[in-house]
Amino acid sequence: MSVILAIESSCDDTSVAICNNGKITANVIANQTIHQNYGGVIPELASRVHQQNIVPAVQQALINAKVTKQDINAVAFTRGPGLLGSLLVGVSFAKSFALALNIPLISVNHMHAHILAHFIDDPKPNFPFICLTVSGGHTQIVLVKDYFDMEIVGETLDDAAGEAFDKTAKLLALPYPGGPLIDKHAQHGNPLAFKFAEPQIADLNFSFSGFKTSILYFIRKQEKENPNFIAENLDDICASVQRSIVQILLNKLKKAAKQYGINEIAIAGGVSANSGLRNGLQQTADELGWKIYIPAFQYCTDNAGMIAIAGYQKYLKQDFVGQDVSPMARMEF
Ligand code: KG4
Ligand code: ZN
Repeated sequence: MSVILAIESSCDDTSVAICNNGKITANVIANQTIHQNYGGVIPELASRVHQQNIVPAVQQALINAKVTKQDINAVAFTRGPGLLGSLLVGVSFAKSFALALNIPLISVNHMHAHILAHFIDDPKPNFPFICLTVSGGHTQIVLVKDYFDMEIVGETLDDAAGEAFDKTAKLLALPYPGGPLIDKHAQHGNPLAFKFAEPQIADLNFSFSGFKTSILYFIRKQEKENPNFIAENLDDICASVQRSIVQILLNKLKKAAKQYGINEIAIAGGVSANSGLRNGLQQTADELGWKIYIPAFQYCTDNAGMIAIAGYQKYLKQDFVGQDVSPMARMEF
């Protein structure tokens, strides 16, 4: 029997979850809207808002899961990677909570947790599987051999896929985070209206910085001819950019599946909420006979449910850390 409280505070969402015997019974996410005023996450502000949100989020999670503090057997927390000031709030809270209740602490790597989110709901992938993890900070193709035996076989050399979405949105004067808004506009646009060249990067790696620049030049050129170009073509621009990003991601995923002879394929991270990627993955799966795994929306973007399920697997192995643990902005995979 185990009840695990999990804390996620690596970026701008404060999230608290409860895992009761392997089932997620609460997943509270307090979003920070303040960053919308600045077009990106302001680390200093994120830390302060985590401070304000963390205790109410814990209280709400306990209520949702119908447990009390005394029922908790261990505290799991995101140690990294992420914004140091944000991580410090979650790690300090987790340590104090564990100390007060005299229960063990479990350290979780945020990127492992995005992948382990696949073990929250059914159907669960079978090992080995390939996971494309696409978020605001990372773009990785990971060969997942076991819960904590994972190997990055491809990654971005510069910007992440989420950044490609967010930076394009900024060019289009859409508020932060722009990914979900591009997705929304794309649903009314023609994905073949405009063409953007696919970066030619060797192996299973990605590059999005040149792609982003090509969109910038394209928009500047079009605006010279028609100052209302963005307003008149917003849906088509979003649909075309989204299609290009999805193609780049899926082409590498196909290459990885072929290279490793694996047809169990998963996607994870904030960008896996993208409808174009979800549909494109389904189509590719139908063509190539893949078994695919896509997390529920609430477990795609940053959430403590994924930290709780990763924590549960570590709890089963009694894999605990001491009170001297500290957060890591960069953390080895
Ligand atoms: O995993 P996540 O919540 O945070 C990080 O660990 O980075 O990912 C956030 C990223 C942002 O770049 C956001 O724009 C993107 O995920 N995102 C989306 C969608 N929902 C979130 N991008 C495209 N389409 C979406 N529907
Ligand atoms: Zn994340």
